[in-house]
Amino acid sequence: MGPIEELHIQFEEDLGKATSLDQLKTVRDRWLSREQGIVTAGMKKLRELPKEERPSFGQAMNQLRELVESRLEATRAVFQAAEESAGRKRTDVTRPSFPYPMGAHHPIRQLQQEIEEIFVNLGFTVLDIPEAETDYYNFEALNMPRNHPARDAQDTFYFDDNLLLRTHCSPVQVHGMECMQPPIRVVHTGRVYRRDSFDATHSPMFNQIDLLVVDEGITMGDLKGMLAAFLTRMFHRDIRMRLRPGFFPFVEPGAEVDIGCIFCQGIGCRICKQSGWIEILGAGMVHPKVLRMSGVDDSRYTGFAWGMGIDRVAILKYGVDDIRLFFENDLRFLNQF
Ligand code: PHE
Repeated sequence: MGPIEELHIQFEEDLGKATSLDQLKTVRDRWLSREQGIVTAGMKKLRELPKEERPSFGQAMNQLRELVESRLEATRAVFQAAEESAGRKRTDVTRPSFPYPMGAHHPIRQLQQEIEEIFVNLGFTVLDIPEAETDYYNFEALNMPRNHPARDAQDTFYFDDNLLLRTHCSPVQVHGMECMQPPIRVVHTGRVYRRDSFDATHSPMFNQIDLLVVDEGITMGDLKGMLAAFLTRMFHRDIRMRLRPGFFPFVEPGAEVDIGCIFCQGIGCRICKQSGWIEILGAGMVHPKVLRMSGVDDSRYTGFAWGMGIDRVAILKYGVDDIRLFFENDLRFLNQF
């Protein structure tokens, strides 16, 4: 092996040890610097050689220099690219994604949406109305005047004399009549508040759905027909129901609606307290006074309204026996929906 091949091998070894742009610069200096570079020094030897050997040695040295230069440049490009991409922290879109758990709506919210959808399909408009209501919308306009027992501070959370947390979703009747002309079909679902203790069947905050229909010639028969249509869609089967007389100041006549127990099919069980029936909502024909107060001509129009506890339906639909489970937000429970 001639001296030039030896130098070549030496250079490759030297180059192989460099791992950064800085180290590469040291290698370049060692081999190519004008004063001490190994290749430069080799060129200087040319003069000491006999004349006839000079051309071939010179040629070989030039080749070596070109090789060293091109190898250094290629390695520099690779190092530079690597350092740039490390600095940029590029996103590798081909990497598998993390197993992020997907969020989902709360079961009560899911049920609310399901119910809203049923009514939208029946031609209703979903109204968005406030949870903090004035005395007028929650009581006064619903025929519950100042001295009405339902307005007792023991039952209602008041902010001040006028503002309160609504105790039911029935203010949708008033809002509906204020913002629409008959025929009116509005529905609202949302939270309501009462000063109740927290136990398996009571909560100071729960959810209701209320609706209002006002048009010419609306009767109790329409109320019943709508109820049957809703219940079948809600429970995905025919549901027996019965209406009992019930009192609510904003309807006349008023009714409490029971459905045949969906756990025992009416035979009698713990859930229906052996009666075969479960009470699920309050309903009735809108009181003429309520129509009039909101500017609807009660000699021309009639209407019906109803209100139902959503948490109550959730309990029935999912067979849950403690309402608190819906409010404690334990993921082991919520994940099942
Ligand atoms: N608002 C009543 C309640 O909270 C339910 C109801 C609504 C009754 C509409 C009749 C008509 O109990």
